[in-house]
Amino acid sequence: AATSILSLSLLAACGSNSSGGSNAEGDGAKSVSLRLAHNQPEDHPVHTSLMEFSKLSEENSDGSVKVEIFPNGQLGQERDVIELVKSGTLDMAKVSASALEAFDSNYAIFSLPYIFQSREHYHEVMDNSEAVQEIFQGTKDQGFVAIGWYDGGQRSIYTADKKVESPADMKGMKIRVQESPTSISMIEAMGGAPTPMSFGEVYTSLQQGVIDGAENNETALTNNKHGEVAKAYTYTEHQYVPDVLIVSTNMWDKLSEDQQKAIQDAAKASSESHKDVWQKAVEDSIKASEEMGVTFYTIDKKAFIDAAAPLHETYKAENENNAKYFDDFQSYLK
Ligand code: GCU
Repeated sequence: AATSILSLSLLAACGSNSSGGSNAEGDGAKSVSLRLAHNQPEDHPVHTSLMEFSKLSEENSDGSVKVEIFPNGQLGQERDVIELVKSGTLDMAKVSASALEAFDSNYAIFSLPYIFQSREHYHEVMDNSEAVQEIFQGTKDQGFVAIGWYDGGQRSIYTADKKVESPADMKGMKIRVQESPTSISMIEAMGGAPTPMSFGEVYTSLQQGVIDGAENNETALTNNKHGEVAKAYTYTEHQYVPDVLIVSTNMWDKLSEDQQKAIQDAAKASSESHKDVWQKAVEDSIKASEEMGVTFYTIDKKAFIDAAAPLHETYKAENENNAKYFDDFQSYLK
């Protein structure tokens, strides 16, 4: 609650326009200045691609759409900013699809371990699947929709110094997970003790031994500095969780069709260019992590894949929609 109050007063103080896609004078389309929050530092690849999104939104709209970015979680953790977007207090946010599961259970599929078989499969689904578009549009009545995604890489387990080769190795280990019911069940299935918390708390929790490990892509070790306090990164490669760009319906409905198209095109183009930005950033992160003393372990993942398999069955059996989404995702396997 403290963060929300801080965020609200920050928002009130920093906007030169009033909130929620307010209109300013301009010839032709009324100009808008939109505020976009996310929790990564400015040297993070996702920030780079959001800057590209901002630039393209402005270009595509002949200057009538400006997107101002608030990085570093300065407007709150992911849960907080999703709330702000829902209520129309904030225009846009970039959050993990896992964080969205707490707001809409249809997002669960993105956190299912080993649902994507490869980076290609993941990209095919995210770029082309109707199920993804249905999920992205499905929260309209809740006050927000998703208009794009960014590659967030593959997530693996990292600990202070222990390589984890099998679920047995994870026994009794407190592993931080995102605040997503599916991610919680996933760590249980993989043998560990899931500890959900917001991303901003992970570094200190690792440092103080409140948790024994966490799971994320390689950039967490460098851009988020977790490699200072976690030296063993084991390639369990259990999830590909997309980062998702959400907008408040309140603001979206006030835009002209041309402005909506300008923004949507910008989201698509920046998502596409992000794929290379991401790949390069991961390579750099691995190098820099090794210099920090992190060791990367490649393992036979079969025991983890088998342990996680029942989650797919439970997910599909839950309702018809789930089964439909699951099949849709599988249909993009080449
Ligand atoms: C990734 C993702 C963030 C998310 C984080 C997490 O880094 O890009 O949006 O907050 O994972 O584990 O919480």
